[in-house]
Amino acid sequence: MHYLFIEPAQKKNKIEKEIYGNFSEHLGRCIYGGVFVGEGSDIPNENGMRKDAVEALREMKLPVLRWPGGCFADEYHWRDGIGEKSGRKKMINTHWGGVTEDNSFGTHEFFELCRQIGCEPYVNGNVGSGSVQEMSEWIEYMTFNGVSPMAELREKNGRKDPWDLKYFCVGNENWGCGGNMRPEFYADQYRRYATFCRNYGGNKLFKIACGPNAADYEWTEVLMREAKNYMNGLSLHYYTVTGDWQNKGSATEFTLDDWYTTLYKTLAMETIISTHEGIMNRYDPEKKVALVVDEWGTWFDVEPGTNPGFLYQQNTMRDALVAGINLNIFNEHSGRVKMANIAQLANVLQSVILTEGDRLVKTPTYYVFKMFARHQGAELLASVMDQCEIGPDGQKIPDVTHSASMGEDGKVFVTLNNLSPVEDNEVQIALGGKKIAEAEGTVLAADYNAYNTFDEPDCVKEAEFKAYTLNDGVLTVKLPKASVLALTLTLA
Ligand code: AHR
Repeated sequence: MHYLFIEPAQKKNKIEKEIYGNFSEHLGRCIYGGVFVGEGSDIPNENGMRKDAVEALREMKLPVLRWPGGCFADEYHWRDGIGEKSGRKKMINTHWGGVTEDNSFGTHEFFELCRQIGCEPYVNGNVGSGSVQEMSEWIEYMTFNGVSPMAELREKNGRKDPWDLKYFCVGNENWGCGGNMRPEFYADQYRRYATFCRNYGGNKLFKIACGPNAADYEWTEVLMREAKNYMNGLSLHYYTVTGDWQNKGSATEFTLDDWYTTLYKTLAMETIISTHEGIMNRYDPEKKVALVVDEWGTWFDVEPGTNPGFLYQQNTMRDALVAGINLNIFNEHSGRVKMANIAQLANVLQSVILTEGDRLVKTPTYYVFKMFARHQGAELLASVMDQCEIGPDGQKIPDVTHSASMGEDGKVFVTLNNLSPVEDNEVQIALGGKKIAEAEGTVLAADYNAYNTFDEPDCVKEAEFKAYTLNDGVLTVKLPKASVLALTLTLA
């Protein structure tokens, strides 16, 4: 039995809804086929956007979507993606399979997708191969409300009013695919590019600088030292790679040892965030600069028979636990972490949806996002739980992780992950100074390697949770092995 104690009177900070964001890149079938099929497609669509995908993402309450990359962002020239589609310039997507990009999905289409989903757009600019002028004019094109060359061009392309754009990142992985820069050089480049990303009218940009790769603490140190006054956020990328980059292992064929390795490596997110936070706290004790984890998730070998450059992988209960662990970690660090974006939205890496022709599958990761949605905008509560260590020597992990928040309605929301692939776990939940009057929730539980396919899309599915008892205001829940639980508690 585990004991979880939640203090409803101790509200720590708001959990920004953007922590539940996604990332979409011009990579494989993420945009093309995943969410965008074009107006002429037989697949039901509205203005080219798949209706099934939009409906699923709305239901999941997707709050923010990052685009157009990723590595693609630093070779993307936005002018190629506007105007008459037949006249749009084609390019080679050199990072991702060397395929031809026809630019039929561009700025207008991205804002239309966000409109349909009802989410905030998050645009990533090009530092690696783009100019200051190009970036500056993209901002003008998207947000200027008045008479200007870019506003006129936008109107000529069918959009009179500017869009609202808050989140803008100045380059992507500029320590790698975005230009192989040293942190000192990038910090200066960031300051220069960001200067010309103007706030027009009422539009106020939240400018994000390219942050570190995983445990590259030197990058954070330099960026905070040299550029903190010019940024609202600093990004962080950390992927869960079970093997090594040459042999990452299969997404679906794995042993129990692989299970533990994957979750062990996922839990490193806690140390990575805490250490970057420590550096940021030294330069920015008032927490003015957000940590934005705008790429995270599992990275396995591609599904056999698929294009290696397309990064298409399946998604099992192991991925669900990776999502649950990371989202609880982000909640716990939400004093500093203000946004996170799982990679990627559809058909690439740890996706929430997979598509094949006109069929769409919701992955186990999808259900975790949907189940955790009540944390969006809620107040993080102080809480503590005992844990047992499980797993092989050298990669011990806790058996249960959790997070608790309070919504505006005064209800307490608890998310729990059972990391054991073989054992159920019981958790007794008590609140400081309050009794629990009612509980309801949903659970995602299945064999540790279970997943959904196009022929069997409902093998793993959120279900009503009934395995609990409520005695004198204290709740005892039984977590099935390899499961994720979301509970809403009404206080007496
Ligand atoms: O998500 C796939 C790639 O991973 C992104 O393009 C890049 O930013 C990261 O290395």
